[in-house]
Amino acid sequence: MAGRLTGKAIIVTGAAHGIGRAIAERYGQEGATVVVSDIDGPGADAVAKGISDAGGAAVAVTTDVSDKDAVDRLFDQTLDRFGTVDAIVNSAGLVNTERHFLEGDEAWWDQIHAVNLKGTFLCGLRAAQHMARKGNGVIITLSSGGATRAHRGNAAYDATKGGIEALTRAMAVDLAPYGVRVNGLIPGSINTSDMSPDVKKERGQAIPMGRVGEPQDMTGAAVFLVSDDAAYVTGQMVAVDGGILAAMRSPAADIFPPSRFPKLDS
Ligand SMILES: NC(=O)c1ccc[n+]([C@@H]2O[C@H](COP(=O)([O-])OP(=O)(O)OC[C@H]3O[C@@H](n4cnc5c(N)ncnc54)[C@H](O)[C@@H]3O)[C@@H](O)[C@H]2O)c1
Repeated sequence: MAGRLTGKAIIVTGAAHGIGRAIAERYGQEGATVVVSDIDGPGADAVAKGISDAGGAAVAVTTDVSDKDAVDRLFDQTLDRFGTVDAIVNSAGLVNTERHFLEGDEAWWDQIHAVNLKGTFLCGLRAAQHMARKGNGVIITLSSGGATRAHRGNAAYDATKGGIEALTRAMAVDLAPYGVRVNGLIPGSINTSDMSPDVKKERGQAIPMGRVGEPQDMTGAAVFLVSDDAAYVTGQMVAVDGGILAAMRSPAADIFPPSRFPKLDS
């Protein structure tokens, strides 16, 4: 399949579901060879099959990103098979991890950090060691608005995302002289859990663009960041969030709510 990413071998972690899945499928449509990686092996198999059935190129590799040996196997198998890794998207993450801070404990903290932050480090390190030697490559991380604005009841998750943003910039600076670019995506409220129409409507009202995002909304920025159009972009976080982070308050608390916006004739 010819497209903007033809000839590139790209690993997407967490690609069995949600944002990772949508990015993997879009990369397949754009001509990349996609390594669909997830701890959910049957889910990864199904996504890889879908990409292949649609005329793209994909293989599935079962990987727990918090396990160094498993990450080493992911890279060894990819390099054996395709000879290169041109880009990696680190979308594997634990979500729905909410707990009030007063109810937190060490196991909660450690598990979320192992997958979200250490997993991004382990995959980023193996990717960087390979890419720096060949003098090019792209690493994409997945942050969250929680890195800079707290979610209620999500201290451990938000801490991992703050760490991921710092790690993204630190990797970008260390790897820039070796031709490796590192950037992050900040999804807004993306419908990866089959939100009911009522939930979508209610959440959409708090978002400047008036709707929650769908996983496909993430894919354009993900294509841009791995493409040569982004050749001079590194160390940046790109929010794909319908304006959530740009706004100061939720509409309900704002002194100039959307109900006071001018109604325009079409
Ligand atoms: N959906 C949102 O609104 C949203 C908002 C902000 C940030 N994010 C971030 O985007 C990323 C993807 O989120 P999503 O909504 O698509 O989640 P999701 O739950 O739909 O998908 C995450 C995938 O990661 C996999 N995974 C979990 N633990 C793993 C591990 N140890 N090793 C390998 N794979 C593992 C899961 O099996 C799943 O397929 C996450 O990093 C999340 O924090 C999502």
